[in-house]
Amino acid sequence: MANVIVIGAQWGDEGKGKITDLLSRSADVVVRYQGGVNAGHTVVVKDKTFKLHLIPSGILYPDTECIIGSGTVIDPQVLIEEIDQLEAIAISTDNLFISQTAHVTMPYHRMIDNASEERRGSHKIGTTKRGIGPTYADKSERTGIRIIDLMDAEGLRSQLEWTINYKNAILEKLYDLPPLNPNEVIAEYLGYAERLRPYVVDSSLKIYQAKQQRRNILFEGAQGTLLDLDHGTYPYVTSSNPVAGGACVGAGVGPTAIDRTIGVAKAYTTRVGEGPFPTEVDGEIGEFLCDRGAEFGTTTGRRRRCGWFDAVIGRYAVRINGMDCMAITKLDVLDGLEEIKVCVAYELDGTTCQEFPSNSRIFARCRPIYQTLPGWQRSTADCRTLEDLPPQALDYLKFLAELMEVPIAIVSLGASRDRTIIVEDPIHGPKRALLDEDGTPVKLEI
Ligand code: GDP
Ligand code: IMO
Ligand code: MG
Repeated sequence: MANVIVIGAQWGDEGKGKITDLLSRSADVVVRYQGGVNAGHTVVVKDKTFKLHLIPSGILYPDTECIIGSGTVIDPQVLIEEIDQLEAIAISTDNLFISQTAHVTMPYHRMIDNASEERRGSHKIGTTKRGIGPTYADKSERTGIRIIDLMDAEGLRSQLEWTINYKNAILEKLYDLPPLNPNEVIAEYLGYAERLRPYVVDSSLKIYQAKQQRRNILFEGAQGTLLDLDHGTYPYVTSSNPVAGGACVGAGVGPTAIDRTIGVAKAYTTRVGEGPFPTEVDGEIGEFLCDRGAEFGTTTGRRRRCGWFDAVIGRYAVRINGMDCMAITKLDVLDGLEEIKVCVAYELDGTTCQEFPSNSRIFARCRPIYQTLPGWQRSTADCRTLEDLPPQALDYLKFLAELMEVPIAIVSLGASRDRTIIVEDPIHGPKRALLDEDGTPVKLEI
């Protein structure tokens, strides 16, 4: 048995949904540990596409328990819609559980997210406008509403009467917005409470019991390392901790419960929203990646910014997450390119910089130093083993593994489950040493 964290190694949308779904085959429990409905995780099974925002990507397996953990923020309206959509196509949510200590996104959170983005003007973050930042801000400010509060009608009434009064002052005086009617909001949320009540549990206890029973637990991250509140491109980040360390806090487990961490990265890079992105490319290549990769946001439909693979942030993600191995997704998108660039370092004010700079203003001045590799002129869609891949594609993967000093355990060549090369089973396979005695990565020597 192994307890495994799946995290995004870039700026989100790396294909975590696909990889979590794949690994869920071997998992008994899948836990979402942070984020909210800003996430959009896509799972494709045959001709059906599922877009999940809060429900863990293990939900398609009837016997897998799916837990929305304490570190998440829950917009009940969206969650109920998601439950209804799954039930409507006969996907049971009987095995879905919601943490009683997760925080709840309220209408004023969405309104403040929208209004503050507008106020920021050219300093905007480019949020998903789902109220994520304001919900986490209230959690820190200790004015948040938790799922457990929703379950207590009297307590909720008295808490919300005070809170909405306070938020109305902000909405009216700061943002010039109409006030909310406390009674309407209370009635709306009490309705959600009744729908969600059957799902609510003490999630950290449930996860602990699963661990004691030696069941396989998968922790599904949302967003990505570079969007982490503490370790990402602040302030152009989300308001939670997607990094592997966030799984312990968000799920309520100790670090000793974790066996492995798998990072998911695209074979190139995308970013949605504002903020520095050194390897971003406009023009023909940018269009190519966006069109071939269908790079439009799962949650907001926004066009994703596209660029070459950045091994500096890749290496950083390996370090920050203590990554054991990686899944490289969307390799097929690069099919047909004559040459492919990889950023191996940055040029910063005339010097070479090997490390990700934490200051976003400095990061914005970093210029990529590229190494160019030959592309491959054929489709990889039907490759099922590394030997099936064009030699240039295999060399490309080896190059990434060596640069990031991490084994590649999975290669994804399409959205569906079958378009995958499992190099090494990241849950049951042997946990290999990262480097040979002479420091060479051992990864792809299968
Ligand atoms: P997530 O947020 O990390 O789960 O990623 P998203 O679901 O937001 O975005 C990834 C997109 O790429 C989805 O539309 C997936 O169906 C798709 N996808 C995942 N893996 C592959 C792959 O290997 N090749 C291609 N072409 N598409 C993929
Ligand atoms: P998944 O889980 C990509 C980005 C937003 C914005 C910043 C802050 O699908 O990978 P927020 O609404 O969280 O306050 O926005 O974070 N962002 C994502 N980008 N994938 C996501 O989730 C994201 N969730 C938030 O675009 O730049
Ligand atoms: Mg996504």
